[in-house]
Amino acid sequence: MKDDMWSVDKAKTVFGVGRNDLHFLDISESGELCIKLRDEQITIKEIVQKMKAVNEKSPGYVSSFTLRIPQLITYQIKKLRTTFERVFEELEYKGKFIGIYPVKVNQRSDFVTTIVRSDSDYGLEAGTKAELLLIKAVIANEKHRHIVCNGAKDPDYLRLIRDSVEEGYNVAISIESLHEARMVVEHFDPDKTDLVFRIKPYLNVEGHWSHSTGRDSKFGLSIHDLYNVVDLLKQTGFAESVSTILGHAGSQITDIESFSRFGQFLTSLYSELRDMGLIKLENIDFGGGLAIDYTGKHAPDLMYQYARNLVHGVSRFLQEENNKHPAPNIMIESGRGLTALAALVIVEALEVRSVFPAPGGKYESETAPAKEKEYLEKIGKINTLDDLVDIWNEFHKHFGGMTLAGLGTIFEREMIVGILEKATRERLIALEIQSFSSKKQIRSFWHPEHIVVGNFSIFNSIADYVLVKQHFPVIPISNLHVHPETTVRLVDITCDSDGEIAHFYRQNTEKIWFTKDNRPLTIPGGKMGDGIPVGVLHELPGSHFILALVGAYQDAIEMDHNLLGDLPDVELRLREDNTWGITWLTGAESIEHLLKDVGYADIAVDEDPYMNS
Ligand SMILES: Cc1ncc(COP(=O)(O)O)c(C=O)c1O
Repeated sequence: MKDDMWSVDKAKTVFGVGRNDLHFLDISESGELCIKLRDEQITIKEIVQKMKAVNEKSPGYVSSFTLRIPQLITYQIKKLRTTFERVFEELEYKGKFIGIYPVKVNQRSDFVTTIVRSDSDYGLEAGTKAELLLIKAVIANEKHRHIVCNGAKDPDYLRLIRDSVEEGYNVAISIESLHEARMVVEHFDPDKTDLVFRIKPYLNVEGHWSHSTGRDSKFGLSIHDLYNVVDLLKQTGFAESVSTILGHAGSQITDIESFSRFGQFLTSLYSELRDMGLIKLENIDFGGGLAIDYTGKHAPDLMYQYARNLVHGVSRFLQEENNKHPAPNIMIESGRGLTALAALVIVEALEVRSVFPAPGGKYESETAPAKEKEYLEKIGKINTLDDLVDIWNEFHKHFGGMTLAGLGTIFEREMIVGILEKATRERLIALEIQSFSSKKQIRSFWHPEHIVVGNFSIFNSIADYVLVKQHFPVIPISNLHVHPETTVRLVDITCDSDGEIAHFYRQNTEKIWFTKDNRPLTIPGGKMGDGIPVGVLHELPGSHFILALVGAYQDAIEMDHNLLGDLPDVELRLREDNTWGITWLTGAESIEHLLKDVGYADIAVDEDPYMNS
C-alpha cells in the first residue's frame, strides 16, 4: 500500500477504533488517538499534558498511569437495562430485569459508587465477608437494593449476613451445598430469610472458563444435592424462603446461542422446583457471561444477541408448559460487561531497541558481501511459499546460533539476517501470496524486529494477559494518520520474559494491508498475529500506548512482581457543559508500601517503583 493511499479511516480499521466495545475511541485528522465522550473528542496527548501540568504542583511520578472513565460504566449500565427492556418488549415478556453487579470484578470504590449512582435499583453481589462489608458501606442509605451473597460461608459470614438483614438490608443468601443449607437452617429464621439456590449450570460452553460450568464446576449444587436440600428446607419450614435460582455459566462466553439453551435449562429447573413446593420462587439469576469484544471481530450487537437468546430460551420453555408458571424476573450479574471499558492503561514508551543492526552498515570481511549477494539472488528467484520457508530456515541456520568467531563476525551475521529477512518479506509481497499457512513454517516472517520498552508491569496492570492469555487491544496514541512503518513488541520493565505484549488482532479486510516494511496489518477473515503497528518508530520514546478494556478483573488480580505496584490513577470526566477535567485519584504505590507488604517495615522510601522518565 502506497503512502498516499493511507488514511485515518484505515487506521481505525486496523486498530478497531470506534468499533464495538472500542466505540469510545476515535482518531483525529492529525493522527491522535482520542476518547470520545458524548460528541467531544479528547486526545490522550492532551490528557497526558494536563496531567503533567497538574502534577507539577506536587512533584512526583508522571509517566504511565491508569485512566479511569466512570462515565463509560454509566453508559454500559444503561445499555444493559435498555437492551433487556427492548427484548422484553419484542418477546412480550412479563418478568422484570434485575441488575446485580458482582463486586469481585472490580471492588474499587470509584467503580462501585458509579454503578450505584447510575441506576437507583441496581443490586450488588458479594463473594466474601470483606465484599459484603464494602457493599454495606456503599449502600448504607439505600437498603432497598438487592444484595446476593455467594461464596463459601462460615459462621462469621452467616452472622454478618444475619446482622445485615436485622439492620434492614435486602440480603439473599446463596446455598451451594447441603452443608451450607444445614448452617442456614440452624442460624436463620425462615420468615426473615431470602434464599438463592446456586445450581451447577450443567452446560458446556466454549471459553476459557468452560471447566467451571459443567458437572465438574466447583460452584453450586449438584442435582442430587438439590433434592436433599429441598427436603431439608421443606422439613424445617424454609421452602417459602427460596426466591431465586442462580446459575453462572462462566465469564466471557462468545458462543451466544448457548444462552438460549441456558435460558431453557434454568427455566425448566425453576418450573420443577415450583412444582416441588417452592412456591415463592420468582427470580432466575443467570450470573455473568456477557462477553466484551476485545478483538473487534464480533457482531456489533453482541449485548442484544446475548439478551435476546437468554430471554427467548426462558420464554420458549414457559410456552412449552403453556405458561403454567409466571414469567420469572431475570437477574443478570454481569461485571465484565459493565466495567471493562472504564479503565485504560496509558503506558509511556521509554526507548526502542532493535534486534538487527541499522541498515546501511559496512562489512569488514570479504566473504560477507558475497554471501549476502548469493542469498539475495536465490530469494529473488523463488516462486512458492514453501520455498521461501525453506530458504528462510536455511539462512537462519547458516547465520544464526552461537559462534566463537568473534564480535565482528556476529555483527556481520546479524546484519545479513536482517537484510535477508527483509528481502524474503519483499518477495512474499511480489508473489502476491494471500494465504501464508505452510506446514513447514517454524517462525513467523513478520515477528517484530523492534522492541519498545514501556514503563509498566504487565503483571500488575493486565495480569490476565499472562494468566489466561486474555487479549487486550494495544494502540499507539500518535502518528495514526501515517502509514505504519513497522510493528513492535511492547515489553515491560519486569525481569520476566513473559512481560511483553506482541499479540495484535489483524482485522478482516478483503485483501491484506501491509506496513511499509511489508508486515501484515490486516488479513482476510481476521486473525490473531504478532506485532503492534506503529507510525514513526523513532518518535515513540516519550510517547504513549494505550492498553484498552482493562476495567474488569485486572485491578483485583494485580501482582507486585519485582515490587512494581499500582500505577497512579487518574479520572477523566466530561462535564455537563462539555468541558473536561481530570482528577488525580492516587499516586503510584510507593516502594515503602510494597516493601512493608513483604515484611520490611523499617525502610522509609517515599518513592515510586517505576522508571523516572
Ligand atoms: C456468580 C458470578 N456472577 C457473576 C460473575 C461475573 O461474570 P462476568 O465476568 O461474565 O461479568 C462471576 C464471575 O466469575 C460469578 O462467579
